[in-house]
Amino acid sequence: MAEDSLSPPLITDNLATRFIGQKVIYYPRLTSTMDVARQEARQGAAEGTVVIAGEQTAGKGRAKRVWLSPRDSLALSIILYPAITYLPYLIMLASLAVVRSIEAVTGLKAQVKWPNDVLINGKKVCGILIESEVRRNTVAYAIIGIGINVNFQLSDFPKILPIATSLADELRKEVSRVDMLRHLLVEIEKLYLTLPDGEAIYQAWRDRLVTLGRKVQVKSGKAILEGIAESVARDGSLLLRHANGSSTKIVAGDVTLCDYR
Ligand code: BTN
Repeated sequence: MAEDSLSPPLITDNLATRFIGQKVIYYPRLTSTMDVARQEARQGAAEGTVVIAGEQTAGKGRAKRVWLSPRDSLALSIILYPAITYLPYLIMLASLAVVRSIEAVTGLKAQVKWPNDVLINGKKVCGILIESEVRRNTVAYAIIGIGINVNFQLSDFPKILPIATSLADELRKEVSRVDMLRHLLVEIEKLYLTLPDGEAIYQAWRDRLVTLGRKVQVKSGKAILEGIAESVARDGSLLLRHANGSSTKIVAGDVTLCDYR
């Protein structure tokens, strides 16, 4: 399949949303959609504005890692202005929306690894980065950054081949990035509009976590902790139960499933 274009009208025309994706800023190539989205948000961009790149040259991952987003992947940032009480739910709604969109467009079964990696068959297919600025207890802006490995072949990227996958690699055929993106924008808006009921989003996200009840290793800052991932709280934190019976609440970290099945 020739590379499908991400030109804004293909994304916005008849898009079934009220505001998310109604304005799209597209760059064939840029450093990171997060940088442009931040500038746009600081200049008061409309809520739901999407910054999208055909390719990123300096994609950002969590914990200051690099995120690979060559052509044929999806890299986008969505600008939002939520109430401060809704901030913890953004991680949950973004990963839920990705899982639901992947399943709707490809039929592949996707899962969430705490807090918000999306996996197919145990390998990472999507990463999500949330950035926000809070001033005097008010959210100045929040940005949901989403990177999905859509059509690139992981065999071209041997370093991440053992831990990552793409939709095309799993499906053995290419997937329309435009279809994937349009589904995703609709799904994100649907969940975002339910936000006064964060409980429903929390429960749906918790039910999708592949992590709960599993033996895991968590890297959190400099610490490496092991235990059973017992539960997640409404603020998104993970409760890890250690072999000696004690527990640790983990707010941010990278989880490795010790017993992938
Ligand atoms: C992670 O799993 O470490 C998060 C990866 C987030 C990547 C996306 S791609 C679109 C947006 N722009 C970036 O530079 N990063 C996010």
